[in-house]
Amino acid sequence: MTISIDQVLREDRSFPPSSEFSSQANLQSEEDYKRLWNFAKDEPETFWAEQASKYLKWEKTWDQVLVEKENCHFEWFVGGTLNACTNCVDRHLKDRGDKTAILWEGEPGETRALTYRDLHKEICKFANVLTKLGVSERDVVTIYMPMVPELLIAMLACARIGAMHNVVFAGFSAQALQERINNSRTKVVVTADGGFRKGKSLPLKATVDESLKQADTVEKVVVLKRTNAEISMTAGRDFWWMDLMEKASEHHKAKAFDAEHPLFLLYTSGSTGKPKGILHTTGGYLLGATFSMQMIFDLKEEDIFWCTADAGWVTGHSYVTYGPLSAGATVVIYEGSPNFPDFGRFWKIVEKHKVSILYTAPTAIRAFMREGKKWPESYDLSSLRLLGTVGEPINPEAWIWYREVIGGKRCPIVDTWWQTETGGILIAPLPGISATHPGSASVPFFGVVAEVVDEKGKALPPNKGGFLVIRKPWPNMLRGIYGDGKRYREQYWSQIPGSYFTGDSARRDAEGNFWIMGRVDDVINVSGHRLSTMEIESSLVSHTAVAEAAVVGKPDPIKGEALSCFVILKDGQKKSEGLVEELKQHVALQIGALARPSELCLVDSLPKTRSGKIMRRVLRALASGEKISGDLSTLED
Ligand code: WT7
Repeated sequence: MTISIDQVLREDRSFPPSSEFSSQANLQSEEDYKRLWNFAKDEPETFWAEQASKYLKWEKTWDQVLVEKENCHFEWFVGGTLNACTNCVDRHLKDRGDKTAILWEGEPGETRALTYRDLHKEICKFANVLTKLGVSERDVVTIYMPMVPELLIAMLACARIGAMHNVVFAGFSAQALQERINNSRTKVVVTADGGFRKGKSLPLKATVDESLKQADTVEKVVVLKRTNAEISMTAGRDFWWMDLMEKASEHHKAKAFDAEHPLFLLYTSGSTGKPKGILHTTGGYLLGATFSMQMIFDLKEEDIFWCTADAGWVTGHSYVTYGPLSAGATVVIYEGSPNFPDFGRFWKIVEKHKVSILYTAPTAIRAFMREGKKWPESYDLSSLRLLGTVGEPINPEAWIWYREVIGGKRCPIVDTWWQTETGGILIAPLPGISATHPGSASVPFFGVVAEVVDEKGKALPPNKGGFLVIRKPWPNMLRGIYGDGKRYREQYWSQIPGSYFTGDSARRDAEGNFWIMGRVDDVINVSGHRLSTMEIESSLVSHTAVAEAAVVGKPDPIKGEALSCFVILKDGQKKSEGLVEELKQHVALQIGALARPSELCLVDSLPKTRSGKIMRRVLRALASGEKISGDLSTLED
C-alpha cells in the first residue's frame, strides 16, 4: 500500500494582495522576498544569526548558530545568553513604556489596560513572589487560570527567573490536570478561585484541590481572586495572590540564561493518545515567534492585535504572549466564550478596541457562519486590516465567508500551518506578497524546508497527497518530550529517517502552495482510493444548508472503508430525509460517486477537543458501533 492520497477537491480561486495592502506591508517587493528566501535556504545559519541579532536582545552573542546533538536533538545559538521576559518587556520600557501592552476584557464586560510599564512592575513583583516560594531555575510552575492578565504575568515571571511554566487549559478536568502536574513534577501551582465562561463561574480552585490529592511534588499554591467564589484554602500550602504581591518588591534584576535554557512545557495530546509534554527552550523559540509575528502578521507600531486563542494552547504562547510582546505590540485578551451573551461578542470587541489584526480558528469561523451575517453586520469592523486562521484546515467556504463578511473583501487572510511542536508558524502566506487560495496554507516560511513525501521519504510530484515532513531543523522546533526521549525519536524522527515527521498529510500544487489534508490518521481508504476526510468535509460545508461536518471511515466488507458523515446544519435549516439524500448527492456530484457517503447523520453537536478539533476517534467508534475508549480528557462535551 502506498501513502499516496487522491486529491478530489478542486479549488481554483486565487486572491493576490491588493496594492493598498502591499504598498504598506513590512515585506512588499517580490525581489526582497526572493532574496531573503534564498538567503535562508542557501545559508540558513547566517540568515538566522542575522535575524537573531536584529529581532532579539542578547546579553552575550552565541558561539555557534546550530549544533546537531545525538538522538535527533538540535541546539540553536549555543553559547548565547538572553532573558525571554526582558526581551518581551524591559527592552520596550524606554520607547514604549506608556504604550498599552495588554487590553483585557472579562466575560462579564469589565476592561483593564496595562502599559508595558505596568506589566513590568507586576512581573517583577511576581518573580519575587515565586522566588520567595522556593521556585528556582528549571523548576516547573503549573498555571491553571482563566484568560486574565495575571496568566501572562505568571508566565513571564517564570521566564524571568528561569523556571519553566506549564500552562494547563482551565477547561481541563482534575484528572487531566493531575496527570500534567505529576508528569512535569510541578513545584508550585498558580490558579484562581474561578473564571467566567459562558456566563458561569468555573470552579478552578476546587479542581486544583481535587488534582492535588495525589500530587506529591507540589509545595505551594497561589490563588488569584477573580470570581469571589467560596473556596477552601489549605494553611501552609495555599496563598492569595494579592497578599503575596502586596509584600513583594517591584524591583527585580533579571539574569540572562543560555539560549537552550528550558522556557516552557506544554502538554499536547492532539486527538489521540497520552498527553506529551512538549519542551521549548529560550533563544530559538523566541526568535521564531518574534520574526514570524513581524513577517506573517505584518505588525506595525499602531496595530491592535487579537489572537483569540487561550494561553492553554501553543497559539496563546507564541501569538498572545511571546511573539507580540517581544515585538512591542498591543494585544487584546478576552476571558470568555465567543457566544456570550450572544454571537456578536467577538465583533463587539473588534469594534470597541479597534482591533486591526484578528487571528482565530476555523472552528470559530464555522460557528459564526452558522449563526449568520446578522451578528458581524451589526458592528463596525472597519478597523480590521489582516485576518489569520490556525488549528485545522479551513474549508474553502468558511475561508470565503471570513474574507467577505469579516474582512470586507479588503483584508488578506493568512492561513497559518504549525504545531505545538514547531513552536511557531512554518507554512503561511506573506500577506504583502503571496496570492492566497481558500484552503491552502500557502508556502513555507523563511528557512523552512517542507516537503510532501511517500512512505520511503521520496518527494512526490505536484498534487499527489502524502506525508508532510520538514527536512531541516528550524530555531523554534521542540527540544523533546519531557522525560521521554524514546517517544520523541519514535514519534517525530523514525517514520522518515533524517526528517521531522509532522503526522499530517498534504499535497503541494504546481505553484508550490501546500494544501494540508489533515492528520495522517484521518485518511480513509474507499475501494483502494485514499481520500482525505477534510476534502469530503469541505464538500459538505460548501452546501448552503451545512454549517459543519465530520467524516470518518467505517469498516465495509466491499469497499474496505465506507464514508460515515456527521453534519450540523446552519441555523434555521430543517432536518429531513430529503436533505440527507441531497447532501449525499452533493458530495457524489462534487467529488465523484466513489465518495458518496454511505451514512449521513444530521446532528446537533460534534465531539471536539477543547481547542476545537473534531475527535474523529470518538466518531469512528460510534460509526462502527464500538465502545469508546482511550483518553477522553481533552473532550469538550
Ligand atoms: C495540528 C497541530 C498550531 C497551533 C494550534 C494547533 C493542524 C494547524 C493548521 C492549518 C491545516 C492545521 C495540523 C497540525 N493544523 N494549523 N493552518 N491548516 N491544519 O496546535 O494542537 O499542536 O495541532 O493542527 O493537523 O498538525 P496543535
